Amino acid sequence: MKNCILFTTKHGSAEKAALSLKEILKAETDIINLKNVKNLDISDYDTVILGASIYIGKIQKLMRKFIRENLNELLKKNIALFIMAGQKEKAQETLYNAYPMELFDHAFAKEFFGYEMILENMNFLEKAATKAQGVTQSKSEIMHDAIEKMAHHINEL
Ligand SMILES: Cc1cc2nc3c(=O)[nH]c(=O)nc-3n(C[C@H](O)[C@H](O)[C@H](O)COP(=O)(O)O)c2cc1C
Repeated sequence: MKNCILFTTKHGSAEKAALSLKEILKAETDIINLKNVKNLDISDYDTVILGASIYIGKIQKLMRKFIRENLNELLKKNIALFIMAGQKEKAQETLYNAYPMELFDHAFAKEFFGYEMILENMNFLEKAATKAQGVTQSKSEIMHDAIEKMAHHINEL
């Protein structure tokens, strides 16, 4: 069994969650930032975990493109999906809408892993948009219980 965690992130919270997940997976696990690879070959992996963060309701374009281009191969693997999203109350709906329906239905695990909003790391527009949502202080709430739940499912495969 070989796992691969593929993630996209803008400010690093998806990477932190991906690293936490990797730490508690029993099988050999590669962890890859999609930004750093071209023509990624996933044929070696039995399980692929895809993780991305939500900006204006969507996961990163790079992740959407990767999924579009590799959908047939992804559908032949064990798939787990996670998102990082600041709007906790809408997180399940956001997760449901984040990935293509076919992949979402195929995935054996789907989790909301929490969020980070670190104002000092944001650019002017991001900071303004965040403050307009009523967030005036930096916050970090990575949900380790959800990460452990997913790890448990993957370790059972
Ligand atoms: C400009 C901006 C837009 C965002 N839009 C959404 C959104 O539409 N829905 C949501 O749930 N969270 C939203 N968030 C919160 C991010 O998803 C959250 O901060 C996440 O942890 C960022 O992940 P990253 O550090 O991996 O980039 C937004 C954050 C920023 C700064």
